Amino acid sequence: MAVNFDYDIAFSRNIGWVTEREQAILRGKRVAIAGLGGVGGSHLLTLARLGVGAFHISDFDSFDLVNFNRQAGATMSHLGRSKVDVLAEMALDINPEMEVRKFPDGVKEDNVHEFLDGVDLYVDGLDFFVVAVRRMVFAECAERSIPSTTAAPLGMGVSALNFIPGKTTFEQYFRLEGQPEKEQLLRFLAGLSPAQIQMGALVDDTRLNLEEHRGPSTSMGCELCAGVAATQALKILLRRGSVVAAPRGLHFDAFGNRMKITWRPGGNNNPLQRLFLAIGRKSITTRLERQVRQRLASTQEAQPATAMERVLELARWAPSGDNTQPWRFELAGKRACVVHGSDTRDWCVYDLQGRASQIAVGALLETIAVAASKDGLRAEFRRRADTTETAPQIEVELVDDPAISRDSLYDFIKQRVTQRRSFSPEPLAPSDKQRLEACLPDGFRVVWIEGDASKKRLARLLFLSARIRLTIPEAYRVHKEIIEWNARYSEDHIPDQAVGLDPVALKMMRWAMGSWERVRFLNRYLAGTWMPRIQLDYLPALKCAAHFLLAADSKPAGIDDYLQAGRALQRFWLSASAVGLQFQPEMTPLIFSGYVRDGIDFTADTRARADARILKRRLEQLVGDAAESGVFMGRLGYGSYPDARSLRLALSKLSVGARGQQFSR
Ligand SMILES: Cc1cc2nc3c(=O)[nH]c(=O)nc-3n(C[C@H](O)[C@H](O)[C@H](O)COP(=O)(O)O)c2cc1C
Repeated sequence: MAVNFDYDIAFSRNIGWVTEREQAILRGKRVAIAGLGGVGGSHLLTLARLGVGAFHISDFDSFDLVNFNRQAGATMSHLGRSKVDVLAEMALDINPEMEVRKFPDGVKEDNVHEFLDGVDLYVDGLDFFVVAVRRMVFAECAERSIPSTTAAPLGMGVSALNFIPGKTTFEQYFRLEGQPEKEQLLRFLAGLSPAQIQMGALVDDTRLNLEEHRGPSTSMGCELCAGVAATQALKILLRRGSVVAAPRGLHFDAFGNRMKITWRPGGNNNPLQRLFLAIGRKSITTRLERQVRQRLASTQEAQPATAMERVLELARWAPSGDNTQPWRFELAGKRACVVHGSDTRDWCVYDLQGRASQIAVGALLETIAVAASKDGLRAEFRRRADTTETAPQIEVELVDDPAISRDSLYDFIKQRVTQRRSFSPEPLAPSDKQRLEACLPDGFRVVWIEGDASKKRLARLLFLSARIRLTIPEAYRVHKEIIEWNARYSEDHIPDQAVGLDPVALKMMRWAMGSWERVRFLNRYLAGTWMPRIQLDYLPALKCAAHFLLAADSKPAGIDDYLQAGRALQRFWLSASAVGLQFQPEMTPLIFSGYVRDGIDFTADTRARADARILKRRLEQLVGDAAESGVFMGRLGYGSYPDARSLRLALSKLSVGARGQQFSR
């Protein structure tokens, strides 16, 4: 159907919010937009649909994959094409009568006059990190009395500032003159968001790096910018309504449901802004320090060369009790290796039969299989029959298999994590529950412990289990060994900040852990176990969606059964991550009641032995037969990702020669 373009019909649905006369005025207006990235492209298309008749647009860049999350025009068919060309085409497709002047080399000192020539309004679309050009264009606008507007996407919101001739200018507001670049960027950010209402949505502050000119962004923020900037444009161009001009600003955060009109007379010279900048400088410095530390701690050294190394590079992120990583790798070709397992029974009261270590090695094998699937490879495992349960060796071979395709759990290998803090008590969504039940291999099932009454029973059970954990010297020795103090990340321990205690309780624990006498003193006279038991066990047990027990169809007996259990566990844990659930193992009730069942003398403490017997009985009452065939227990729930976590040893540290090596702590 050939339909001829007709301006009046094309933009007739604007009428009502604008009059026919105003529409005609907009048709005669000329708007300059510098930068056609996250916001500039959307500004152009929004203003084109408003019926603005002429544009000057500039950008020297072309479309790249990293633009896809937010930029109008960033599509597969436009990859590599110049942004001005693509957006001019898109805008002309909306209004073929529009006049578009393209500035494909960007705005510079030698073309800024031409760029702003005859323009009624300048709309800023420059990248956040482009400071010098931004200052130049705004200064030129002030010089020529051209009104200008800037709308910055801040998370899932927008902060907009209008610079109206005769009022505060861009420079008077931001005060960038004579400042080094990093300070200019900080001042720009501070001036854009005096209210800081976007910060509640920021989940990973390490992604903002002023020095490397990197920052996170969302399409929602950019689209909100286009809506707000085009509204400012309408008001300025039609002289309608009250325009909020600098030093006042508009800030709306769609995530936090908040809107603020900010007022900072003197801009960044305002005492409030100075204070804000002082704090900002400090927090950016500490953040940069943290980034450096994190980078040091991020333990990947070199790009892995072979398929096997690539797989192991990822597989080392498998979970293990207390982050002991009871495995070493002997490379045996491009697609083969031998996993040398070990167990920690000689020093760890939680692993006296080696089960926790065997489960961890099983989880490692499953991770190898998932990682290999990315390259269409099937992982085959063969446990060497002549090796012992305490030091098993498993041959791994990766073979081509056309039936293997990338496992969807692949993306979650590094994302899977232990979260020991409270989750939301919101119950599991039926679809998530179904997915978790379906992910288990044959031979395993999940028993759910959910609903307020059952969660309370389990909370009491964990509270009791924690008394054993916190009062026996055998466990004290383990805790002293496995926790890294004053740490947010740890390569081969659990950082204290990931344990789940608040800062005060953590301080107390740090002190108490200095000696067994201190622990005993606290326990005897100051009810020392109460605070950690409530914080680490009782409350988290209530604050979760559900607890689970993974049970085998028949009671597991030897190492091979536990390796299988570990594989099942890892599928379950990765699947939980894939549906956005937080996860914490709760193994001690299972471990201590198992010791009672198998007659393992795990402590000299008589009260703890009696507690373990009660624990066994209560667990059986709660989950029935599954208590005996249970291999793993924990809790799940919706909530935030932890901000402290265990890392892993680098592949080079995990690699050994053919005879393996002793690797105890
Ligand atoms: C067999 C096994 C038992 C575990 N038991 C517990 C536990 O009882 N409580 C807990 O908080 N974490 C437990 N964990 C979690 C580990 O401490 C955690 O996986 C390890 O520190 C690595 O950290 P990440 O899972 O955050 O990568 C267990 C993990 C495994 C594999």
